[in-house]
Amino acid sequence: MAECFVYNTLPGTTEPVTAARFELTTDRNDTPLGRFVYGKSYLERPEAVALDPVELTLAPRVYETTAMKGLFGALRDASPDYWGRRVIERHVGKAPLGELDYLLHSPDDRAGALGFGLGQKPPAPKRKFNQTINLAKLQAIADAIVNDEDLPAEAEKAQAEELLLAGTSMGGARPKAVVEDRAGLWVAKFNRPDDKWNNARVEHAMLTLARTCGLTTAESQVVTIGDRDVLLVKRFDREKTAAGYLRARMVSGLTLLKTEDSHQARDKWSYVLLVEELRRVSAEPKKDAVELFRRMCFNALISNTDDHPRNHAIIAKERDWKLSPAFDLTPMPHVSLERRDLALICGDNGRFANAKNLLSQSARFLLPGEEAETVMATMREQVKGSWYEIARSAGVSEKDCERISGAFAYPGFDLDHVQPVDAA
Ligand SMILES: Nc1ncnc2c1ncn2[C@@H]1O[C@H](COP(=O)(O)OP(=O)(O)OP(=O)(O)O)[C@@H](O)[C@H]1O
Ligand SMILES: [Mg+2]
Repeated sequence: MAECFVYNTLPGTTEPVTAARFELTTDRNDTPLGRFVYGKSYLERPEAVALDPVELTLAPRVYETTAMKGLFGALRDASPDYWGRRVIERHVGKAPLGELDYLLHSPDDRAGALGFGLGQKPPAPKRKFNQTINLAKLQAIADAIVNDEDLPAEAEKAQAEELLLAGTSMGGARPKAVVEDRAGLWVAKFNRPDDKWNNARVEHAMLTLARTCGLTTAESQVVTIGDRDVLLVKRFDREKTAAGYLRARMVSGLTLLKTEDSHQARDKWSYVLLVEELRRVSAEPKKDAVELFRRMCFNALISNTDDHPRNHAIIAKERDWKLSPAFDLTPMPHVSLERRDLALICGDNGRFANAKNLLSQSARFLLPGEEAETVMATMREQVKGSWYEIARSAGVSEKDCERISGAFAYPGFDLDHVQPVDAA
């Protein structure tokens, strides 16, 4: 059995408090079993908040789960993903590690307000972050890890790993780090040598395009380090104050859908189900439901077929939850011109990224048919008419524009009849 304490930084504060105890054990069939209990003193605080709006309601009871290797959704969301796990494994020199090891080894700059540790009292919050000036070094170390090479000679191994470990608890597969400047904290996303185009500039362009389509997105900028571009996305779950960082709680679409990342769980990956859950937990159900409809349409219009549930999130800066700004928007120019599928079911015809399909369940997004049609038609024109100009202004090269051009308002979007899946 392994156990740890779960800390939470309460709304409006900058220091964590102990919220709960989490135990990872196995049941009689040797299946991993997670147990979670809020601390009595936490429950007694008038300002106490639940760690998620779905599963871990504030109550003096023992929560148990055998799903997801015994991890509750809110804890899994605070745990590193492909990239972070890889860095941690290298650091520890062992792979794979236990789920609790990943939680305990990943640093305190994870998405959301939670922290984990072995001490009943939380450690003081981290005050020192990598600065944007460290980006060149961070990029070199990230390259070495991507290529499975030794770390760059000029960097002391231990120090280099320390640098990169900061940021490992952010999810996602792409190499990344967390850096600070005067405005606050940013997620730095590095280009990979095997990228098909300049990802930093293209993702920045997609976030900009999304804003022109009326979506709320994370703020972004591109910085050039040596001869390479790096995308900086402003952390929307942190706010810099004189006293330190305020932290918002954050859980992913996976947790809202009570599902996981595996292939078998894909039946529950659905915008239609997601909007139902969102309407239930959001303090602004109408606004968030319409925004989710817009994001679904936008993803279809730019062929962002990597719109999986971890690329959606809700956050709570105070007590209330709402949809987070949009992030991780990437065009994917597939070969098929007739049928492209989003990662989430988006209508009566499954995942088909097609206008008719997207409109088929618009009532669930609290948009009457005609309004939904207008929203979609306007966005379609906006994407079609301005993606190129916006991409060029974001510094995407002419060549890269050619490479991504097939992603926008692809022919299948407007098809009036359903394409069988195997035509994909
Ligand atoms: N601006 C932000 N503020 C707070 N958290 C963020 C922000 N951007 C991303 N995140 C968190 O970090 C995770 C990883 O970021 P992102 O999805 O951009 O990376 P990625 O490596 O491209 O992901 P993927 O594996 O989906 O391609 C997200 O799932 C989200 O939890
Ligand atoms: Mg992502």
